[in-house]
This record gives sequence, C-alpha cells and structure tokens, in this order.
Amino acid sequence: MARFDNSVIERIREETDIVELISQYVQLRQAGRNYQGLCPFHSEKTPSFSVSEDKKIFKCFGCGESGDAISFLMKIESCDFLTAVQILAKRLGILLREETEEDKIRKERRENLYKLNREVALFFMENLRKSKKAIDYIKKREIPGKIANQFGLGYANDSYDKLINFLNKKSFPLDLAESLGLIATSKKGNKYDYFRDRLMFPIIDTKGRVIGFGGRSLGDNEPKYLNSKENEIFHKGENLYSLNLVRKNNNDRKIILVEGYMDVIALFKKGIKYGVASLGTALTERQARLISKNADDIYICFDTDSSGIKATMRALDIFSNDSIEVGIISLGKYKDPDDYFHDNSLEDFKLLMDNAKTSYEFRLDYLKSKYDIEKPEEKIKLVKEFLHDIANYKNPIEREVYQRKLSEDLNVAYETIKSNDVGPIRRYDKRFIISTSSEIKDSIDFELLKLSIIDREFFEKMHPFLESYDFKDDRCKDIYANIVKFYEEKLDDKNLLYKDIIEIHSSDKNFSKNLIYNNKGFLSLEPEEMFESIKKVIEIRRLREKREGILLKMSENQDGGNVSLNDLFLELDEINQKLIAFGEGDFD
Ligand code: UTP
Ligand code: MN
Repeated sequence: MARFDNSVIERIREETDIVELISQYVQLRQAGRNYQGLCPFHSEKTPSFSVSEDKKIFKCFGCGESGDAISFLMKIESCDFLTAVQILAKRLGILLREETEEDKIRKERRENLYKLNREVALFFMENLRKSKKAIDYIKKREIPGKIANQFGLGYANDSYDKLINFLNKKSFPLDLAESLGLIATSKKGNKYDYFRDRLMFPIIDTKGRVIGFGGRSLGDNEPKYLNSKENEIFHKGENLYSLNLVRKNNNDRKIILVEGYMDVIALFKKGIKYGVASLGTALTERQARLISKNADDIYICFDTDSSGIKATMRALDIFSNDSIEVGIISLGKYKDPDDYFHDNSLEDFKLLMDNAKTSYEFRLDYLKSKYDIEKPEEKIKLVKEFLHDIANYKNPIEREVYQRKLSEDLNVAYETIKSNDVGPIRRYDKRFIISTSSEIKDSIDFELLKLSIIDREFFEKMHPFLESYDFKDDRCKDIYANIVKFYEEKLDDKNLLYKDIIEIHSSDKNFSKNLIYNNKGFLSLEPEEMFESIKKVIEIRRLREKREGILLKMSENQDGGNVSLNDLFLELDEINQKLIAFGEGDFD
C-alpha cells in the first residue's frame, strides 16, 4: 500500500464501532458482553455469529468465519482491502491521503454548519426565555422549564429578520444558514427567517450535534409543524428525535416509538426516557435498525386515528421484514401519548405496555375491524390481506407459525392458507443492493426479466432505461430480446412468449421454467415501486462498475509515478458520494 501506513490502519481498526458497522447488515442482539445474530456468511436458523465490542472482532461458531471490521467489510461487500479501508476511513473522517485544499474546505464547511445550527439553537432558547407568548405556550402544553431545557426547546420570533440580524451580528455567512434551511430567499431576492412564531425543537444526533429543527406553530398557522429540509448534515431517514437522550438514559434497553416530538416529551416528563419519534416522515428501515440496535424491548405507540393505525401497519411491515418483534400499545380513547397523560399516570401507562399487542394480534384486530368476518367474501379478503402482511416475514419459520395460527383463529385449513402464501416480500434494501457478487447481478437481471414478463406496464416504463444496459448473462439478453419482440408485436397470448423462451433455452429448462412459472414474491409487488427500485439498482450497478474500474487503475498505478493517483482518489470520492446519496455505503 503505497499511500497509507500501518498506523492509519490500526487507527481505523481501533476507532470503528464494529457493532454498529455489522448492525448495518446483521440483526444483532446483546448477549452478555457480546452481540449475537444470524451469520451472514452461511445459512443458519439459530444465531452462532458473535461480535465483541471490546475486542473489536467477529466470529461465527458455525462456519468459523472471523476477523475485524476491515475483513468483515471485505467479505460482506466482496471488495478488496483498499476499498474496505477507504469506506471505513470515510466513515471515521480519516483521510488516507494528504488533505487537499478541497477536503479542508469541505470539512470546515460541515463543521461550520454544525456550529451554526448550535448557535441558532442557543439563540432560539434565549428567545424562549424572553418571550411571554412562548412561555405561556409551553405552560399551556404543560412542559416544565427543566424539561424544556433538557430538550433545548426554543422560540423563533414572529419576525422576518430577527435571526438574520443575529447571524449578521455574529458574522455568520447567510448562505450557510440558507443551506441549512434556516433562512430563505423571496422571489424578489430578499432574505427572510424561515421559522417564524414557532416553538423550536432542535434535532440532535447521537454525537450531540444539532442537525436540524422542527418548529411547532404557536397558533393556527399551517403547517402545524415545519421541519428543516434535508441537507448536507440533516438526513431524516437516518436519525430519530431524542435518540441522543435515549442513549444516555436507557439502562433498560427499551424504546417506545411515537409519532410526535410532543409525545416524546410527554413520556420523558413522566419518567419514560426512552421515547423516540421519526422526523416528520414515515419510518425507514434504517431507523428500524437503529431502534433495534439500541433496545431489546420495542414498542410502537402511534396516534389512535386512522392515519396512525396505517402508519403502525407500515412500521410493522418494516420491523417484521427484519424479524424484529415489537409490541403495540393501544391508547384507547386518547389521541396520542401526550393526550393520554393528561388523564393518566405512569403506572397506567406501564399497564398498557404490559398489555401491548403482538404484531400478529394487532394485524388481525385491524383486519377484523375492516372486514365483517361473518360474510364469506369479506372473510376471503381478510385472509388474503393477512397473508400479504405475513409475507413481510422473510423468515420461513415465522411465516409458518403465523399461518398455522391464522388457520386456527379463522378456521381455514392450513393447507389452503399455505398454498396461498405469496412468499417473502422482497425489499430492495441496502444489504441486497450493495453486494457486487456476480450472483446478485444475475438476480437483478432475473428480476428485470421476470417483471417484464408479468407486467407489460412495468416493461413499457423500464424499457427506455435499458438502452445501454448490459445483461451479465447471454441467456438473459436473448430472452429480453424475445420479450421486446412480443410486446412490440402487440401479442396478447403470453403462452406464445413462454413457448419461445422455453425453445431458445431447451438445454436449460429449469432456468426458463423458473423464469416463467415461479412467481413467488413477485405478484404482491407494486409495479411503481419496483420500477423505482430497479432503476436505482441499475444506476448503482453502473456506479459500482465504474468504481471497480478506478480501483483497478489505482492498483496498477501504485508503484509507478503517482501521476494521477490523487485524481483517481477524487474520482473515487465523487462516485462514493453518489453512492452515498443512494443510501449506499455511507456509515456516518
Ligand atoms: P401530530 O400532528 O400528531 O403532532 O404530528 P403532535 O406531536 O401530536 O403535536 P401537537 O401535540 O399537536 O403539538 C406528529 C409528528 O408529525 C410531524 C411532526 O414530526 C410531528 O411531531 N408533522 C406533523 C409534520 O412534520 N408536519 C405537520 O404539519 C404535522
Ligand atoms: Mn399527535
């Protein structure tokens, strides 16, 4: 390695949080001093894969695979040492090459953004102290001053330039504040404060940095909550409100996921310091994992209105896809946790926690309220929908257990239920896309073909994006040509297409048959969603291939003159950035 010495590698090994890294790929649970999960390197049903936080190593007692953060990444990403080191270094903010002017600027800029947000949060806090209107509001919401301080609550005054004046006085560049969404520019070109007359909730990451804000309107101004927009340092899908406090206080390893900032605070006020909320968007897989990494007992306690129930169902899908079991707390007639605590005590709430429903119970109750089980046609719908929900369990054991239970509960033969299993729903999550092994590339090709065969609409949307698409497998290429021909000739009878496909590949019948007849996991997918996912997968694949090319060039270049090594690094960096924008490979 011409460019970095062992001390850097040591530092990377030392500083990488191996549990966090591996959690991006494996569902880990704490077991004594170590963490355990299902080994990603061989197939198993009981966990024998162990990660030691202290020793910074992993080991699988099933297949014997073991190593440190770097070798884990190499193995799981099928990448070389250099790439693994690069990714980990990036994550830690360690530079592997001499810092360029550009790096310095970028780093400084990020630091300035955090600093600015922090100053602004303090400014808002100070405003709250001075505003009778805002103080009256938090009193009305029954938030004690101490709690308001712990959450860093503030107030953005009812003014178009109070913040601007403050920033000017402190000589903070306004364009920096603008890229954080704190100020905006009008059509006429005038700058103004974005948050006005709002109670401000700073959003703080687990490293204690203020990354964004949520602002609650004090009056009836719409929208009720205004949140910072996504920006360089604010990624809504990767953070949770109050996770910083949970990490500090949570010895019980419990987490309650609620909908609103106010709900988190209401729980906290009663002594439950393990509430978190997503940041004004639906729960993401990344957030679900973040939750499960920080807790052994997880609860959902969303609003009781119909959108809260739908959000619960969606969240359950995300959790069950990762085999994370959660309890669902029902608040009865109360709107949300904040509302609940107006009339009830901590002990009352703890009872609700003890009586939390399992995801199975919650789903069944929900469907029973939606359909009249006494009417045969509605009962059929119920069973179908339930099966679709169960399909979110990737784990076949879980699916079977729930199917058997459903068969008992609804008095429908298990065999019937089993034969209607749509199979595990494929989520195009990171762990699937990120791999570069040839097997996965083929599987993308396979899925492209499969969906094109099933769904003409999908094909018509996808086709224009495939102009320079490079099927990895000649069989796939040929079959795709057949599909194109079939649709172009506006044929209706798919059997004609099937016949063609089987004929071209008479030597490999299993391949064609699988392609045509095995619809497991495909029929339940939304074409629109699939289209977006596959488009994304293809783009990511292009970027990855480009990256491999660069890495190859780099290794060829290593000992020769370092003519363009730095340029290559920059190019690599740029591609990495793009991949990160796709939610790929960024571990920050
Ligand atoms: P709620 O409307 O349930 O708010 O939205 P809440 O927490 O109960 O607040 P209060 O008690 O009415 O003040 C729940 C969450 O959804 C997001 C916010 O993150 C909020 O905390 N939200 C809501 C928005 O982002 N924008 C909105 O306009 C409304
Ligand atoms: Mn609410």
